[in-house]
Order: sequence, then C-alpha cells, then structure tokens
Amino acid sequence: MTNIVLFGAPGAGKGTLAGKIKKFSSVVHISTGDLFRANIKNETPIGKEAKSYIDAGQLVPDSVVIGMVKDRIDQPDVKENGFMLDGFPRTLEQAKALDEIASLDVVVVIEIAKEDLKKRILGRRSCPKCGKIYNIYNDELKPKKEGYCDVCENTALVQRSDDNEETFEKRWNTYLSQSEAVIDYYSKNEGLVQKIDGTRTMSYTEAELRSILKM
Ligand code: AP5
Repeated sequence: MTNIVLFGAPGAGKGTLAGKIKKFSSVVHISTGDLFRANIKNETPIGKEAKSYIDAGQLVPDSVVIGMVKDRIDQPDVKENGFMLDGFPRTLEQAKALDEIASLDVVVVIEIAKEDLKKRILGRRSCPKCGKIYNIYNDELKPKKEGYCDVCENTALVQRSDDNEETFEKRWNTYLSQSEAVIDYYSKNEGLVQKIDGTRTMSYTEAELRSILKM
C-alpha cells in the first residue's frame, strides 16, 4: 500500500498525472476539487458552501475540507489500496490534520512557473462523464475529435467555471500564500518530498512520476 500526495499549483498537472497512474495501479485517486464539483452538481450542503469559495478562487474552509477527506480516507477501498491525494493538503492546518489520519510515503511536488500555467488552465477541457482531462493547445493532450471525449464517444467536453483568467489569478495568489508553509512542513521529514519538473511534456512527467513511485 502506498500513500501519495500530489502537490502543485493550479494547472500544474496533478489530475492528469493521477489519471495516468490509475491505469496501472489500484491506489485510490482522491481529488478534493473533483469531490467539491460532484457535491456542487448534486446540490449537497458541502457543495452549496464550497461553490462561492471556488468561484472566487479562494480555499474552502479547512473545517469543511478536512472532514470530507477524512470520510473518504476511511472508506474500505482506500484502507486496502492506499491513496493518491490531489489538491490536499493545501494549508499547514490540512497537512497537520492529515498526519493524524494517515502516514505518507511520498509527497510529489510538481514545479512550474505561473507563465506556463495560464495557457494550460485556459486550454483545459474535461469529460463530464469519465473525468478525462484534455488540453486544446497541446498536441499530446488534444481530443482525437475536436470537442468530444476519446473514451466516451459523443460526450461533449466541458470547461470548468473557474478556468478563466480572472479566477486563475486569484487561485494562483492563494497558492502562493499557502504553498511554502506546506512544502516546508513536509521538507522537515528527510526524503519525503520528491520534485518533478512540471514544465516538461506529459510523457516526460509521467515517466518521472512512475520512477519516483517505482510503478
Ligand atoms: P482543484 O480542482 O484541485 O484545482 P487546482 O488545484 O487549481 O488544480 P487544477 O485541477 O486546476 O489543476 P491540476 O494540477 O489538476 O492540472 P490538470 O492535470 O488538470 O480545486 C478547485 C478549487 O476547489 C480550489 O480553487 C478551491 O477553491 C477548492 N479546493 C480544492 N481542494 C481544496 C483544499 N484542499 N482546501 C481548500 N479548498 C480546496 O492540468 C491542467 C491542464 O494542463 C490540462 O488541460 C492538462 O491537459 C494540461 N497539462 C497537464 N500536464 C501537462 C504537461 N506536462 N504539458 C502540457 N500540458 C499539460
């Protein structure tokens, strides 16, 4: 069993890399962003509370996120196969809370500059049915048929409501204000943090991640 944290700025490639790892590992992908989007779609109390924060590019309060992640980590599939957290923890409080819930094997930090992220965010499209992530500006990540999912034929791809220039700026600033404290916290534990150059191609970053995870 392996417990992994994928850490990086908005658009760094966390979800895309998690999708690649899922193909050859039973480790459970837990994306807090995806959990919130599902809650928003189903109009749950968590979804109603999270929506205004997400639309404003701010973090959902720790008390809400930590409870949601704890519930997911307590499920039998995670107990059996381990987890790959994508988008959690994002604050020092979340990192400390996670330490009380589980022990980590590796924290993978995807490093990438702001200039590279905006184009990725604006070009991102995803399948509302299977969740596969595409990018219309990248030949490696484009759908085969423009506007449609390669896996779920005839399903039109969608753009996330927070993937616009204005909200990206806010998400980036939120990331800057919180990320250092989280990386510093994990760096105290020697060998736990492994860095990946997120500016490289998808195939390169996937190979680097697989080598770190020995998968
Ligand atoms: P969340 O959904 O987690 O958004 P995020 O962290 O901003 O990350 P993204 O999903 O935007 O990016 P990603 O790194 O997964 O990149 P992707 O693989 O898609 O969170 C949304 C919101 O929910 C937050 O703003 C917050 O409000 C709330 N929230 C979530 N977690 C929370 C928490 N813990 N605490 C409080 N609030 C929380 O890739 C991006 C694009 O780039 C894609 O189009 C992809 O095809 C492309 N791409 C990927 N890799 C490459 C590559 N190597 N080369 C070229 N293109 C690439």
